[in-house]
Amino acid sequence: MSIKLNTHYLESFIQPHEFERIAPEVRMADDMLRSKTGAGNDFLGWVDLPDRYDREEFARIQACAEKIRKTCQVLVVIGIGGSYLGARAVIEFLKSPNYNLLPKETPNIYFAGNSISSDALTEILSLCEGKDVCVNVISKSGTTTEPAVAFRVFRNLLEEKYGKEGARERIFVTTDRARGTLKQFSTDAGYETFVVPDDVGGRFSVLTAVGLLPIAAAGIDILKLMEGAAAASHAYTSTDLDRNDCYKYAAIRNLLYRKGKSVEILAGYEPFAAMFHEWWKQLYGESEGKDGKGVYPASVIFSTDLHSLGQFIQDGNRILFETVIDIADTHRRFAIPNDPANIDGLNFLSGKELDDVKKTAMLGTVLAHVDGGVPNTVIEVSERSEFALGELIYFFELACAVSGYVLSVNPFDQPGVESYKKNMFALLGKPGYESMRAELAKRLNY
Ligand code: PA5
Repeated sequence: MSIKLNTHYLESFIQPHEFERIAPEVRMADDMLRSKTGAGNDFLGWVDLPDRYDREEFARIQACAEKIRKTCQVLVVIGIGGSYLGARAVIEFLKSPNYNLLPKETPNIYFAGNSISSDALTEILSLCEGKDVCVNVISKSGTTTEPAVAFRVFRNLLEEKYGKEGARERIFVTTDRARGTLKQFSTDAGYETFVVPDDVGGRFSVLTAVGLLPIAAAGIDILKLMEGAAAASHAYTSTDLDRNDCYKYAAIRNLLYRKGKSVEILAGYEPFAAMFHEWWKQLYGESEGKDGKGVYPASVIFSTDLHSLGQFIQDGNRILFETVIDIADTHRRFAIPNDPANIDGLNFLSGKELDDVKKTAMLGTVLAHVDGGVPNTVIEVSERSEFALGELIYFFELACAVSGYVLSVNPFDQPGVESYKKNMFALLGKPGYESMRAELAKRLNY
């Protein structure tokens, strides 16, 4: 395995007997998941996806990615939430947050339809000027406002530029297998489509076509990603907490939550992981934050954020615990240069690898935060690779499901997401929302 859970720094916060006490709850959660008897059991398609994914569609994804790489300089990926975060997280993690600025054989990738910002939308439009463009629109429901607006805009762009026929060769749609307006529209228009499986919710969908097509278009080996996820799915089957790091992490979160630690900070030391933390935040926030319960998922990238949030973490309200991701082998090594004048007094670091300084900073920070009353768990990841990231994705998905069941919530629904949408539609005058509009307008003096 590329992943190891280091619980050494938890010893003053959780006693061995507490793990023994929560173990039956974890076993019960595992049973609900494996026997598909828990809440939300219609959405467990991700559990054995790494072994059972549709090989024919996978080959089509690879072929389509190849076509995109050959025919366009820009790929616009349209989607929001679970239909956006995973692809961006993986591309930035394995390539770079500066992917679009790097010299490369693959197209630039711009993510649209994930906000309601005119500036964001028009900026991407201007980045497409004079470039050959393809579009991958991703929406399970096909009705989400943000991506639907963006799709209108980019479909028009492509049709004006290439004509209806030409645009058809450049628009790829990832949506429900059979239902929804986007599916119907794609069939009528003759677009190539890929499937968001019925039994996989948005935030668990990165290893379906939702994530895999843009990821493959960026030149990433999606087979290795799936192999990593499969390895994790085979490894985390024991219900013995000492033999299952994934379930142990789920147990730790719940034990700390019961002690009043209601905010989990995912801490990393690599800027390339920042979007991966965003993906993790959606996974845990949407899965657990309901029924008045849940650990609030936050994230930081150190050492950057040690200079902003470090003070709060060390010394502020003691509601926090940290999960630190420590990635051992990254892509490059760099030694700190010597300065004969030693103007900055840093020659004690001359010749030292930056990674060694990072590791030391991490160890020093973990100890300081533990001393400050913040429980720390470290997830050690051996390398920055497709395989290891596939493992990590599956590790977090499985832990999230088990943690949610231990918390006694349905980890697979998101009823709270609808409230703002209803208000927004009513205020925008969507047909069918008339009486609600009148009531809201009164409250807002609108
Ligand atoms: O996790 C979820 O279910 C959400 O984040 C959805 O993915 C998001 O709202 C987008 O939905 P859709 O794919 O239907 O456009």
